[in-house]
Amino acid sequence: MKKIIPLLILAAVMSGACNKSTNLSEDDSAIEKKIDKLLSEMTLEEKIGQMNQYSGNSAITGPLKARPEQIEDLKKGWIGSMLNVVGATNTREMQKLVMENSRMKIPLIFGFDVIHGYKTIFPIPLGESASWDLEAIEASARVAGSETAASGVHWTFAPMVDIARDARWGRIMEGAGEDTYLGSLIAVARVKGFQGKDLKDNNTIVACAKHFAAYGAAEAGRDYNTVDISDRVLKETYLKPFKVAVDAGVGTFMNSFNELDGVPATGNGYLVNSILKKDWDFKGFVVSDWGSIGEMVNHGVAKDKYEAGNLAANAGNDMDMESNSYRDHLLQLVKDGKVSEKTIDEAVRRILRIKFKLGLFDDPYKYCNEELEKKEVMSEANLNMARDVSRKSIVLLKNNNQILPISSDVKTIAVIGPLADSKKDMLCNWTAMGDPNDAVTVLEGIKAQVSATTKVLYAKGCNIADDSVTNFAQAVNIAKQADIVILAIGEAGNMSGEAHSRGNINIPGRQEELAKELFKTGKPVVVLLMNGRPLTIPWLAANAPALLECWFLGTQSGNAIADVVFGKYNPSGKLPVSFPYSVGQIPVYYNHKNTGRPKLSDTDFYVSRFEDIPNEPVFPFGYGLSYTTFSYSDITLSDTAMGMQDTLAISVQVKNTGKFDGEEVVQLYIQDLVGSVTRPVKELKGFKKLMIKVGETQEVKFKISTSDLAFYTKDMSFKAEPGDFKAYVGTSSSDCKEKRFTLK
Ligand code: GLC
Repeated sequence: MKKIIPLLILAAVMSGACNKSTNLSEDDSAIEKKIDKLLSEMTLEEKIGQMNQYSGNSAITGPLKARPEQIEDLKKGWIGSMLNVVGATNTREMQKLVMENSRMKIPLIFGFDVIHGYKTIFPIPLGESASWDLEAIEASARVAGSETAASGVHWTFAPMVDIARDARWGRIMEGAGEDTYLGSLIAVARVKGFQGKDLKDNNTIVACAKHFAAYGAAEAGRDYNTVDISDRVLKETYLKPFKVAVDAGVGTFMNSFNELDGVPATGNGYLVNSILKKDWDFKGFVVSDWGSIGEMVNHGVAKDKYEAGNLAANAGNDMDMESNSYRDHLLQLVKDGKVSEKTIDEAVRRILRIKFKLGLFDDPYKYCNEELEKKEVMSEANLNMARDVSRKSIVLLKNNNQILPISSDVKTIAVIGPLADSKKDMLCNWTAMGDPNDAVTVLEGIKAQVSATTKVLYAKGCNIADDSVTNFAQAVNIAKQADIVILAIGEAGNMSGEAHSRGNINIPGRQEELAKELFKTGKPVVVLLMNGRPLTIPWLAANAPALLECWFLGTQSGNAIADVVFGKYNPSGKLPVSFPYSVGQIPVYYNHKNTGRPKLSDTDFYVSRFEDIPNEPVFPFGYGLSYTTFSYSDITLSDTAMGMQDTLAISVQVKNTGKFDGEEVVQLYIQDLVGSVTRPVKELKGFKKLMIKVGETQEVKFKISTSDLAFYTKDMSFKAEPGDFKAYVGTSSSDCKEKRFTLK
């Protein structure tokens, strides 16, 4: 059956031209009238109250300070939102404090970091992005949204849409990797998953595009560090996922901790007022990150929180998370004429708009339903969905001599490694209400699937991060008794995430030495790599007989991994991020520039190269194997040239030449050979994930238009330029067929 990929729709999504299937674009005049009325009745203190957000203690996600005045503030209506308060009962109790005591009775909106699941925990977002399966990613967010809503919470601080090209940065685990095109489509999928068809539904929550903006470009990959990039790189690489999130109807934004070109994002009017609210016509509201308003004092752009509040309010930051700057200074700032009441009204209007869209004024307790909570959270359907998404996120990196899949009748299997039977690490970071006790470990997953006659041996072998090798002998001993070894190594779950940058991204501790000792036994060893970021694994990549990138897959980790190991599911993941050869190679990403002296061979000298390491990553963006093999025909173009108003059809035949039915992610890249500014050597412009049965050939078609070729030209206008291009189609960014064409 021919598959034609509607690239025009994808292009529309990317350019924001698509019709807004959003809950925000409908200018609901009835809501606006109700807001007008409320604003006319509210005191200035009550308006400022809506702009304050404080944390409860269902989870600690920042430097929490005690706030004895919190209860009184709630009763006075001086707090508009709470984060980290979860559960139908808890949220009802807190809502009652406001609804039964405050004058205006404006409901609280409850927010929480549901980053990869609420209690049913899904793969970390970077891992889920490796599925390249937009439907699965949307479904995952839909389940997370349903469980969150059932637990009394209205709002998630997700999706995190920060493009990241530096694996030292711990928060790379929270996003969709290095590519703007893939990251943008995944951002849309996640927004739609969380927000569903209508924010008024009882199982939908409002999403939050974060962290605005360019947080992933922190110098040296050190969290919260300085970001200094050109306006062109900002717009070409970092802003697009935010733009498409607006077009998908995302209800809120969160700004980032970092400065951008000398101005902290929290007080950056260019980012918030000009680009987000004016150019993009964003109708929702912007919340600061935890304390980021007050942190402008540390940045050195504000003498005190009075000045910080002034900068933030006038830059368009609508809500203050946990810094007290608005609570303690905004009233005075208005009285001093520094912040106009019009600015306050605009911020409050945006906040009230989302509360109306959620239906909170109709029923402030609509999400407080213990019965629904019991039924929805961790349901069997949700767990099955998590297992499916987890399997799809696994990337097969090596499979020498088809070691994998393993027969479940294998006589003896040794399961080894510090991550082989660890529940807590499977959830990684940002675990919301996930309970490690619910996680299925690799050992448990393997035991659940082997035959009754199979003997399963287990040894931890070593710890994740210490120097002890005392347990190597036991591990080697059981490996020698086994027909096959499964070795689970990598990072601890808490080695990535916020404030977890690492200057050395090798596999920690003595784990690689353990692998060496096991390889020496001559037994076939399948290495399961578990990590929240790309790791520098040149030796392991060269020496592991079989290697699966398993990320941290959440609650269903062990079952999903066993499904792949025993061939119930043929791995189909592709890397959403490059794996550096060493930390010295960073930043390394596929869509780099050519430079004036590109390295074309290892003998070149006066070229852009290293003396001691290769230029190429160990594993490139878009790479991933299958248990089967696929062959690609040459590319067919509908024409060798296209006009500005034309589209160009690009097609390729893909044949399954192996022994297993399998899914392949066919990738389309485009290179603009000559531009008014330098252009990347290739850029992802389309992909299609499809099942191809053994012996079957499928035609995969892409259609590109000039909107796919547009970029910020020398004068920063966004358009395509006539000239020569190359189309690349293949199984990864470094394994493609190519064909030239001209844009007239
Ligand atoms: C944290 C994170 C942000 C999160 C917020 C609330 O500091 O930077 O991503 O949503 O605080 O927990």
